[in-house]
Amino acid sequence: MTVYSFSVFLLHFAILIPNHICVESRNVDFSKLKEFISKDDDKSPQGTRWAILLAGSNGYSNYRHQADVCHAYQVLKRGGLKDENIVVFMYDDIAFNKKNPKPGVIINNPRGEDVYHGVPKDYIGRDVNVNNFLSVLHGNKSALTGKGSGKVVSSGPNDTIFVYYADHGGAGVLSMPGVFSEPLYANDFNDALIKKHKTGTYKSMVIYLEACEAGSMFEGLLKPGMNIYVTTASNAHESSWGYYCPDDVPVAPSEYTTCLGDLYSIAWLEESEKHNMKTESLGKQFEVVRRRTLYEISDNGSHVIQYGDIKQLRNQNMYTYIGTNPENDEYKFSIQTNWKPVQMPSHTSTQRDTDLIHFKLQYQNAPEGSEKKAKAWQRYQNVVQDRNYVDGAMVLIGKFLFGTTEMALEVLKAVRPAGQPVVDDWSCYKTMVKTYEKSCGPFSRYGLKHMRSLANMCNAGVKLENLAKASDYACNTLRKSSFEHWSHEKTQN
Ligand SMILES: *[C@@H]1O[C@H](CO)[C@@H](O)[C@H](O)[C@H]1NC(C)=O
Ligand SMILES: *[C@@H]1O[C@H](CO)[C@@H](O)[C@H](O)[C@H]1NC(C)=O
Ligand SMILES: *[C@@H]1O[C@H](CO)[C@@H](O)[C@H](O)[C@H]1NC(C)=O
Repeated sequence: MTVYSFSVFLLHFAILIPNHICVESRNVDFSKLKEFISKDDDKSPQGTRWAILLAGSNGYSNYRHQADVCHAYQVLKRGGLKDENIVVFMYDDIAFNKKNPKPGVIINNPRGEDVYHGVPKDYIGRDVNVNNFLSVLHGNKSALTGKGSGKVVSSGPNDTIFVYYADHGGAGVLSMPGVFSEPLYANDFNDALIKKHKTGTYKSMVIYLEACEAGSMFEGLLKPGMNIYVTTASNAHESSWGYYCPDDVPVAPSEYTTCLGDLYSIAWLEESEKHNMKTESLGKQFEVVRRRTLYEISDNGSHVIQYGDIKQLRNQNMYTYIGTNPENDEYKFSIQTNWKPVQMPSHTSTQRDTDLIHFKLQYQNAPEGSEKKAKAWQRYQNVVQDRNYVDGAMVLIGKFLFGTTEMALEVLKAVRPAGQPVVDDWSCYKTMVKTYEKSCGPFSRYGLKHMRSLANMCNAGVKLENLAKASDYACNTLRKSSFEHWSHEKTQN
């Protein structure tokens, strides 16, 4: 058998039986294999590679989302994408945050390379919002608000678009930074994708999404035939995971009281920065990321899911979207599909618990008896109480509407089967959310986990005025009783 046919044999074998082979081969001649792959994949000439990178949170306890996004920028930049084609959205309150032990530096792993340098600040602060995100995607400069760079995706029919979004999410929603910002609803995102497709201004698009319940942004919603391939950090109804967290394995440096990354995100980023992206297909990367995201942590992490035109696009190479770093050319091939943890599996934190850990550590680390310690304690208590408040509110609302806790839970906790969107009537859902928030205050990042209950109320035909009454009753009761001391001070999450 020649080296060439042996390589091809390996390739087929690897694709067919991904669980049982690990080839990280520098000594097989892959130059011919490369030819084989590119002939197969790149029939039409490559247009411009565009990218939108968005971190949807702010606050130091959410350090990791902006770290992920800055890291993604570095990977794309080294891959050969130009700044003029990479649009970055980030609140930009981390690098020079007073809690940051290394001012001006953001890191995305414990080894600590800076990923902040050179990142374009196209849209920062309040300009990170739904309108600007969708306007950038549509290439519509005149629809932008605020004072961002004005950079938009002015893509043409031969171009590719890569969208990466890292943040908190809930059932059918993705957050934007700030307590009062409108979230991105799944139906609006999918409508925007349909609109973009109709304009014929891209060849194909890849979307990577890190968020809790991320699958719910596409489940039963993403239309086939638009040349869009998606992977999500979690299925439609589970949490995604922070990574490189304090007190964890592998541990974040002790001066950091916050997680440095997210599991799904660092899985695709660390894969992409090491390997030759010309020889890594979308499907292969999915498999590598899927396994790492599920098995890296002890009780299993989350399920990475693919959506969209999977069959049509999964054999394209990553290079088509994110380029490749020429320094990685010798790493021809990455088949880490039998990925196993190299160290003790980590007990890392769900995205929704990371803030709690942060505020607890801020308290623990503050000098005994200091004002700082007292303040940190207060903040921690506020976070705990905010959690109890939203948990309690939904229970009371359920009882008010459905009589017993059992009946309430049946409706509120219902999860629709795969293939169905979280809600049929999106305007009902949005109105329900507004109605709840009017009585109970805006959903915190943690509170997002209860949004599904409101979607379920729409599905169950609950009347808006009944939810209004129930919310009033529930949140007034909570404020008056055990939550007398509950403070409305929000923790910027
Ligand atoms: C761009 O946005 C503006 C303002 O929302 C809108 O009036 C216009 O129709 C949009 N243009 C395109 C090409 O969609
Ligand atoms: C896109 O690619 C096709 C095929 O190579 C070419 O004929 C066409 O001119 C290109 N279109 C643009 C807008 O670059
Ligand atoms: C983790 O996933 C594997 C494979 O799906 C399964 O066999 C195992 O029971 C799971 N472990 C836990 C703790 O859920």
